Amino acid sequence: MPPRKKKSNNDSKSTLEEGGELEVEMSENPPTTPTAPLSKEASSGNIDELPGIGPATAKKLRESGFGTLESLATVSIGQLVAVGNLGEATSSKIIQAARDALDFGFVAADEVLERRRNMLKVTTGSASLDDLFGGGIETGAVTELYGEYRTGKTQLAHQLCVAAQLPRELGGLRVDGPIKVIYIDTEGTFRPERILNMSKRWEGDLDVKEVLKNILHGRAYNSDHQMVLAEKAAQDSQTEPIGLVVVDSLIAHFRAEYIGRGTLASRQQKLNQHIHTLLKMAEVGNMAVILTNQVHSKPDMFFGDPTSPVGGHIVAHASQTRVYLRKSKGERRIARIADSPLLPENETVFAITGDGIIDIN
Ligand SMILES: Nc1ncnc2c1ncn2[C@@H]1O[C@H](COP(=O)(O)OP(=O)(O)OP(=O)(O)O)[C@@H](O)[C@H]1O
Ligand SMILES: [Mg+2]
Repeated sequence: MPPRKKKSNNDSKSTLEEGGELEVEMSENPPTTPTAPLSKEASSGNIDELPGIGPATAKKLRESGFGTLESLATVSIGQLVAVGNLGEATSSKIIQAARDALDFGFVAADEVLERRRNMLKVTTGSASLDDLFGGGIETGAVTELYGEYRTGKTQLAHQLCVAAQLPRELGGLRVDGPIKVIYIDTEGTFRPERILNMSKRWEGDLDVKEVLKNILHGRAYNSDHQMVLAEKAAQDSQTEPIGLVVVDSLIAHFRAEYIGRGTLASRQQKLNQHIHTLLKMAEVGNMAVILTNQVHSKPDMFFGDPTSPVGGHIVAHASQTRVYLRKSKGERRIARIADSPLLPENETVFAITGDGIIDIN
């Protein structure tokens, strides 16, 4: 795995503003590709070196959020025309040039395996949960936590915000500089106090005072705002060492705003676009993306647990791993792998305590 680029704290200034707006002030010369990209060629590329891109176009592209070859190679022509303010022919040429530079296309399965070796795993702080997840939450993929209210979705998301900042050898993502986390909060349930409680157990391994500074909180007030924050996260991840993005919860706004059968198609279309942004960000930047999701009951189901995640097949296809959380006695919760391309359908018990998520002894 290529090491994450060392970055000085002066390169950028992140603020956790009153009102919860996400704001990242960038320096004049931001570092390139701070996260470990999945494509091994990716870290060598520079958009200025693409044929046909002059300094003015490169500047325009950067300002529109296309500062890396990956971002250009994976955008659609329509999007580049709209966002980059460029003509269709130029956009098409730029995208093709970026794809050529990155050698995009089919790759042999042994290379897929090699790329997956770049994948990292973030500890949950519970050994039994980590075992369930095959070592932790994967980077380069979307993991969905779904379950009824108070089953621990938000708590687990909070704990991962802390754990991701641990050094690599302790199950975090930090190699030689601070790791940043983005928390898109749609329900107003982000609690920095809980982050501080959860940080205490890693006091010797983390600079507790820095933990909150590295979490960028964005309060999304409606689904459009939520989508803008996700796009901003994708843009910032090109220049900032972002290791984890949380969206808690994915669907709440969409569900509340699109009521009735007639609006379902447009809701799903927007949701699809949103999820695509998140999925692409996870894969291109080799980041962990955590989504929390609600359940709806299926009253016609006679056997098994009559609950399933909302969002339909769009959410189902985007989440590589789906984890179902449910309540047990007192502080105990049960996590089950509901869908994974790799992991067996298994379950385990954990506890939510004042100090965070821990194993049951
Ligand atoms: N400080 C704390 N000490 C102990 N347990 C806590 C503490 N804070 C929260 N919890 C536990 O976490 C539970 C809430 O979990 P969480 O907020 O993760 O639910 P959720 O699955 O996100 O629910 P929702 O669907 O309503 O968002 C509480 O019911 C409580 O059991
Ligand atoms: Mg919650």
